[in-house]
Amino acid sequence: MSQGLKVDNIRKAFGGLVAINGVSFSAKPGTITGIIGVNGAGKSTLLNCLCGLYAVSSGEILLNGQAIHNMPADRVTRLGVGRTFQVPRLFKSLTLTDNIAIGETGSTRHEEIDRLLQQVHLYRLRDNMANELSGGQKKLIELLRIQYHDAGLILLDEPFAGVHPDLIRVFLELIKGFRDAGKTVLLISHDLTSIYELSDNIIALNQGEIIAEGDAAAIQNSTAVVEAYLGK
Ligand SMILES: Nc1ncnc2c1ncn2[C@@H]1O[C@H](COP(=O)(O)OP(=O)(O)OP(=O)(O)O)[C@@H](O)[C@H]1O
Ligand SMILES: [Mg+2]
Repeated sequence: MSQGLKVDNIRKAFGGLVAINGVSFSAKPGTITGIIGVNGAGKSTLLNCLCGLYAVSSGEILLNGQAIHNMPADRVTRLGVGRTFQVPRLFKSLTLTDNIAIGETGSTRHEEIDRLLQQVHLYRLRDNMANELSGGQKKLIELLRIQYHDAGLILLDEPFAGVHPDLIRVFLELIKGFRDAGKTVLLISHDLTSIYELSDNIIALNQGEIIAEGDAAAIQNSTAVVEAYLGK
């Protein structure tokens, strides 16, 4: 059984609009795959297919050899797929601790949540409601939730957008920690500096198709990428 993620020729259409058109790639445990592309390229739609939020129109998604496309999102989550959202989605009137523990089947490991919150200097806010947090802090709680639930496939949609530069460093360390712990990480970002720094492999999407794939040098030298960003 092959480990990690294998995406095979997936397509996602919304009526006549084809948002993902024949996308195939693989991602191995212990690596970070960067996903770039202009607004509307299909980046978030791709993650939404991977986490079960959207059914694919065709194609296959295999996680550690198991088909997960068209499984309901809660089952995909239970198989160890964790994600963050472009606009953070927390339960507004639950505490930070409860937001991190959410979906847990056993009893809450409060000491571990305390330790995670201490690590990012949010421990003093542990009993506050999530709606009292800043946008960047909410994104941090989503990352801690993934860490707490020990997800094997981690999907991050614009984690740095709108985050204060001081906090971005904390995010970078957490994401590198996921990779070093052997997780399979997919990272969408418009922050190309962070993408180039973090990614083992980069996928450039345009109009739902992969127009370039490779390391930072390959992407920087791709005329297709330059044309997609700047116009021909
Ligand atoms: N639920 C939906 N219903 C209809 N069309 C959708 C839906 N979700 C996305 N789309 C369309 O699919 C295309 C890709 O959108 P997507 O959100 O994946 O882009 P993106 O690359 O994440 O862009 P951005 O960088 O702005 O976040 C767009 O044309 C968008 O309007
Ligand atoms: Mg998006």
